[in-house]
Amino acid sequence: MSSLAVLHASQLVTLSGPKRPRVGTELSVLEIIHNGGMLIRDGQIERIGSSDEIEKNVGDAESVDAGGRVVMPGFVDAHTHLVFAGNRLDDFERRAGGKTYQQIAKAGGGIWSTVEKTRAASEPDLLTQAKEHANWLLSCGTTTVEAKSGYGLTVEDELKILRVMRQLKEEVRLEIVPTFLGAHAVPRELAPDEYLDIVVTEMLPRVTAEKLAEFCDVFCERGYFDIDQSRKILSAAKEVGLKLRGHVDQLTNSGGAKLMAEMGATTADHLEQTDEQGIEALRKANVQPVLVPGSVYALGSSRYPRAREMIEAGLAVVLATDFNPGSSPTPSMPMVLSLACTQMKMSPAEAITASTLNAAYSLCRGSKVGSLEPGKFANFAIFDCEDYRELAYWFGMPQTHSVYIRGECVTAD
Ligand code: NIG
Ligand code: FE
Repeated sequence: MSSLAVLHASQLVTLSGPKRPRVGTELSVLEIIHNGGMLIRDGQIERIGSSDEIEKNVGDAESVDAGGRVVMPGFVDAHTHLVFAGNRLDDFERRAGGKTYQQIAKAGGGIWSTVEKTRAASEPDLLTQAKEHANWLLSCGTTTVEAKSGYGLTVEDELKILRVMRQLKEEVRLEIVPTFLGAHAVPRELAPDEYLDIVVTEMLPRVTAEKLAEFCDVFCERGYFDIDQSRKILSAAKEVGLKLRGHVDQLTNSGGAKLMAEMGATTADHLEQTDEQGIEALRKANVQPVLVPGSVYALGSSRYPRAREMIEAGLAVVLATDFNPGSSPTPSMPMVLSLACTQMKMSPAEAITASTLNAAYSLCRGSKVGSLEPGKFANFAIFDCEDYRELAYWFGMPQTHSVYIRGECVTAD
């Protein structure tokens, strides 16, 4: 049995409490132990408490001195597009020149340009790039990540991406939750309904037969998939046993939040344009909003989702990076915390809860990760600061000291 004792955390941010996502004022309760410690056995947390108390129970456990730093659960990033080839530097430069996401997509950039590069990449090449992305996430303190397909848009290319994710799971220690996003865009070579038919009749059966995904997602947006098309895809996915997430109300308010509520989805993501009716629909159906302010920032927009209203309505808000080459080229959850506090007026404590415990529940991993409590996996990060608020306060500066997954230090994977 391998055991590890973590001692002398200035703040052990535990987030311990009821076994469910946090809502309303609960988002502000972090259950911090000052000068805290933690005992880990076989990758699981056995005990948390004051450093003195843990020290008395160290026995033959190896000790890690946190040295007066913050120790908290590893971030759970509940929305990323982890597997893609290349970058979108040209889009970035065109946006800097004043063009919008939609104009750039029409002019041959956008999702389509990443699809071309991803199709052209071999499986080993894609895996190498995905490993690099996974290491970036780890280096920012993220220990669990949701990863979407969606840059293939043919049966074989979507399966290739999902198989790369499966292989990645074997080769890196970052925990990966796969989502099938075949309906990310309509490929150039097909009419929308023809492609929709392929997603439903060919892709979904293969994805489920090979058990390649836990969730199905769709980009419900003007010029991508409308409400009726999205409903068809999500209904078919539900029928084959996939849980649902959705990119909705990002650029226009098309009633996407209401659709996710109607479908009984696990999450509705983006929501920049969602109004109070959409928020009410999510509340009634118990759908978790996943807010991705990095994409608002990187697209140069100022229309952030209404996080405060969502919290006040009692929604179990989640924060994520939306890491992707186009709209959100950041793997950094601390950057997202900064944006959540400065642009969406969330408090640092709310932002931490939204990016750890609530995010874990949105991936159906709430009983295993997202907080530091006995029985959970010892997935945690040590940050080079004394107060958890520093993570959101200092920005553009790495503060990760070390990262542990199931009790093993993985920072240099
Ligand atoms: O979440 N909105 C759709 N999908 C991504 C962008 C993907 C891309 O531009 O490559 C997003 O913002
Ligand atoms: Fe996304």
